[in-house]
Amino acid sequence: MALVEAIRKHNKQRVKANYFVHSYGCKQNVADCERICGVLELLGFKQVTSTEESDVIIYNTCGVRHTATARVLGNIGVLKRLKDKNPELIIGVCGCMVEQEGMADHLAKRFPFLDLIFGTNLIHYLPRFLHEVLFEEKKVRVTKLDDEIVEGLPINREAGTSCLVPITYGCDNFCSYCVVPYVRGRERSREPEMILDEIRELVAQGCKEVTLLGQNVNSYGKGLTSKINFAELLAKIDSLPGRFRVRFLTSHPKDCSKELIDTIAESEKICNQIHLPVQSGSNNILKLMNRGYTKEQYLTLVRYLKEKMPDVSFGSDIIVGFPGEGEQEFLETLSLVKEVGFNLLFTFLYSPRKGTKAADMLDTVPKEEKKIWFEKLLKEQELISDEQNEKQCGKIKVVLPEHFAETAGKSVLSGRCENGFWVEFEGGKNLIGEFVEVKIIKATRRSLIGEKIVK
Ligand code: 5AD
Ligand code: SF4
Repeated sequence: MALVEAIRKHNKQRVKANYFVHSYGCKQNVADCERICGVLELLGFKQVTSTEESDVIIYNTCGVRHTATARVLGNIGVLKRLKDKNPELIIGVCGCMVEQEGMADHLAKRFPFLDLIFGTNLIHYLPRFLHEVLFEEKKVRVTKLDDEIVEGLPINREAGTSCLVPITYGCDNFCSYCVVPYVRGRERSREPEMILDEIRELVAQGCKEVTLLGQNVNSYGKGLTSKINFAELLAKIDSLPGRFRVRFLTSHPKDCSKELIDTIAESEKICNQIHLPVQSGSNNILKLMNRGYTKEQYLTLVRYLKEKMPDVSFGSDIIVGFPGEGEQEFLETLSLVKEVGFNLLFTFLYSPRKGTKAADMLDTVPKEEKKIWFEKLLKEQELISDEQNEKQCGKIKVVLPEHFAETAGKSVLSGRCENGFWVEFEGGKNLIGEFVEVKIIKATRRSLIGEKIVK
């Protein structure tokens, strides 16, 4: 607390003490940013929306693919100009990319003006790190993984009605392409009471939608003293009082049990939407990826989900061009995509990550060919999405508006419905954060267009 008080006092005496925090990663990364912002607010800093006005800038990075790393490296370089203008400016880089083998040293060498370089799971040390920079003229370089879960950090949430709630941290799956287990450490689950208390409090404050986060939410509960699995946690959340909706990210197909699907189908608050990354439609490739399921098992799961929840919407991730993938394997992926009819598909070109098993696998297919497959998959998915969106016409959906805009003289609200489709409709700003019944009248590739039902 002494460190916190010292920084608060220092900030009170300054003309301004502004901060800018930017997330370069997934929803978990965004949730971490909300905690970084919470700690900075506690220390007396004020959030601003541009780097130019800031006294502290923190970039929270991602290391999952090369493109994510390259983007952030470029953007760090640009900050040198600000540091030259204002040597008092504190610049920090944290998160997954920093934990990658050799990366912290690389960052320190390439960008000597960086004051803070720290890895994941270390946000609770931020007051100490800032104290070292502000008062001890030190530079911070810490990448040690702390595997404990630190509860009770202040959180400065991005939005009031739609909130992120982490339930697990880290990952134990070691898919052969993935850097996450190395950069986020072993899987740890939060105590159920902590999660339930957080949701109770959020709902009391007006939150209407909670997204539970974890690298693999389906294996929630492993290692906890209280015996509980993800389905049981969902059932407990479902029975909390108040009107709110629950989504969750990400589900690993190998741990998606029938019990879980039954719980979602029978619940009132858990949305009929599931993000179930398949990664490939070829059993050879799934094996090389160490995914722990076959194409047939995945399709059985999909059939069960559709049987239990006919209106379920599916999301998935697919990697194109994994080492060993030939045209035959790619065509199997394409065929699976057509068979399932995903509503939302994230497609990625394989990106070798240092330290992972796949990085050492023989990769003979030229990038140009992989790009042709990638484009083919995108085109196919566009047709599927159009078809899926079209099927929603005429249905009545309950939408939670998040955004409001005045366009062409019209007041337009947009938000998601129960099963995750993005819906736009005419309505007043006062409806933001309220559940609104909307009839879908038109489908575009980007969203559904609806009309508010007047009762
Ligand atoms: N190359 C390409 N895509 C990857 N993903 C994870 N690691 C890699 C990689 N090395 C994708 C997976 C995962 C999503 C978050 O990112 O599809 O589900
Ligand atoms: Fe999220 Fe993984 Fe990227 Fe980290 S490496 S920000 S966990 S996607």
